[in-house]
Amino acid sequence: MPAEVPITRDAAQAAAVLLGGGLAVLPTETVYGLGARADDLRAVARVYAAKGRPADHPLIVHVADPMAAEAWGRGLPAYARLLGAACWPGPLTLVVPRSPRAGDHVTGGQDTVGLRVPAHPLALQVLRRMDADDPGGAPHGVAAPSANRFGRVSPTTAAHALAELADALDPARDVVLDGGPSGVGVESTIVDCTGPLPRILRPGGVSAADIRRITGLDLATDAPGADVRAPGTLAAHYAPRARVVVVPSGEDVAGEVRVGPGSDRQARIGLLALSGVATPPGVVRLSAPEDVAAYARSLYAALREADALGLAAVVAVPPPAEGLGAAIADRLARAAAGSATSEPSGWQRRGGSPRR
Ligand code: TXA
Ligand code: MG
Repeated sequence: MPAEVPITRDAAQAAAVLLGGGLAVLPTETVYGLGARADDLRAVARVYAAKGRPADHPLIVHVADPMAAEAWGRGLPAYARLLGAACWPGPLTLVVPRSPRAGDHVTGGQDTVGLRVPAHPLALQVLRRMDADDPGGAPHGVAAPSANRFGRVSPTTAAHALAELADALDPARDVVLDGGPSGVGVESTIVDCTGPLPRILRPGGVSAADIRRITGLDLATDAPGADVRAPGTLAAHYAPRARVVVVPSGEDVAGEVRVGPGSDRQARIGLLALSGVATPPGVVRLSAPEDVAAYARSLYAALREADALGLAAVVAVPPPAEGLGAAIADRLARAAAGSATSEPSGWQRRGGSPRR
């Protein structure tokens, strides 16, 4: 049997691996990331290769504190500083003009860099330890996309990250840092801070209302300029193998799930909805979260479970679209756009027209 990638709970071990040019799967409060030291071109190239990610898709650089963000960015606008001060460590990524430290290899050749101070204690320990053990390179950054293959469901546990990437990691060079299940469960809010007003590129744990309140500014609603590309926020993303269908409310579930009479067919459809939504007979309840936060925490594990059970389709009723609910609705819409394009047998859409 081939050797397996070491799994540890020791942040110092992960810091040493990263400083040495290896890759570390890292826990964060949002989702697990696949990290490389951001100033190591070869290590960062291995991250792209492991994920199968196109080279022009920029990576988020994770740093220990807002001071470090000033070293990787340059000329941050006042509202970006306010957001960092209020939300970091936390589920917020700021896209700002880059400093020379942030090379083309992490920014996908753009003049901006995405920066985040993660809130997971082990991730913070790793970042601080890198600066302490290699003060010459401080402040270090760890370039880390979500630890999944390109376009697939993000991992919220170390086991899920390994299921995605075990084949791409090197047992002699790399490590998995296990920090338990991610507490937020969906990726950070990305805010473009290159214009006069903040603009949300991806909804996440920090809401639009939070950003307005913290900055005292309205949000830009026009499309980002050509110089701000968030290519990873594709229409089709976060997709399990099962078809994902989003319906507006619990009343729509039964109508949508017109399964055939055979019990094998009935067992092939899963439901994702708040606990108040009833499960139609024969449908597999994948999760029944009590509230929006629990919905976000369980979302990706539930999509993985659908695949583990070999379900053909998942019907999802998103929670109300405020706050984290907006992030959940966003991910479900992308999962629906990115999931299987052929009509599975035993599955009928109301109206009968095949989806694209
Ligand atoms: O919560 C998160 O943000 C997680 C954890 C691991 O921190 N990371 C994450 O990374 O979701 P990733 O690479 O899967 O998604 C980052 C998104 C991509 O859509 C990428 O295109 C965008 O951020 N992005 C990164 N840097 C950017 C930049 N300079 N300009 C515009 N978009 C950027
Ligand atoms: Mg991702």
